[in-house]
Amino acid sequence: MINLGILISGRGSNMEVILKAIKRQKIPINAAVVISNNPDAKGLKIAQKMGVKTEVVESKGFSGTRWEYDQKIINVLQKYGVTEKNGLVCLAGFMRIISSEFIKKYRNRILNIHPAILPAFPGLHSQKQAVDYGVKFSGCTVHFVDDGVDTGPIILQAVVPVSDTDTEETLSKKILAKEHKIYPEAVRLFAEGRIRIMGRKTTITNQGR
Ligand code: GRF
Repeated sequence: MINLGILISGRGSNMEVILKAIKRQKIPINAAVVISNNPDAKGLKIAQKMGVKTEVVESKGFSGTRWEYDQKIINVLQKYGVTEKNGLVCLAGFMRIISSEFIKKYRNRILNIHPAILPAFPGLHSQKQAVDYGVKFSGCTVHFVDDGVDTGPIILQAVVPVSDTDTEETLSKKILAKEHKIYPEAVRLFAEGRIRIMGRKTTITNQGR
């Protein structure tokens, strides 16, 4: 079975729905570890309550390079069996850019959720970007992580309408509800070996490997 490592920095609501889905909907993946770069992340307590191992690799005050920090994360992942051969890493509100060395080592094994319909509004504050731009629809995207910022092959997207009265806050709430649907679904597809990658496109097959 694949071992899953979830990287968080804060609230951890996506982490929570993924962990719940693994338990309730029997996704064939082992929730091996939740790692936070922030010792105060609320998600750590949620994971512990759910009986999942947690680790903190504090990034505040770390003076090494991005890759040196990521090696500390990788050491923890490996300790829990989340390897480049048998692992899946989910970034779930992990507020750090990860190094190209990390991405290369875990090639096509790192997922991220982004609160916009990529390639629109990459980077930070996507919901505010969407409201300010005046789009009529926005949403969220689960994608593989590649070297760019929010540019990797897209696995799933979900759309929400943006109303005239929406603010960054109200739109974020609507989008988050959709994030909670598609992120666990993407983890299931990965766990079942149903995602094929060709160039920057993915296809979902009915049957796994
Ligand atoms: C989500 O909006 C996600 O799209 C973005 O960061 C936020 C994390 O929220 N990458 P949570 O920690 O999962 O509640």
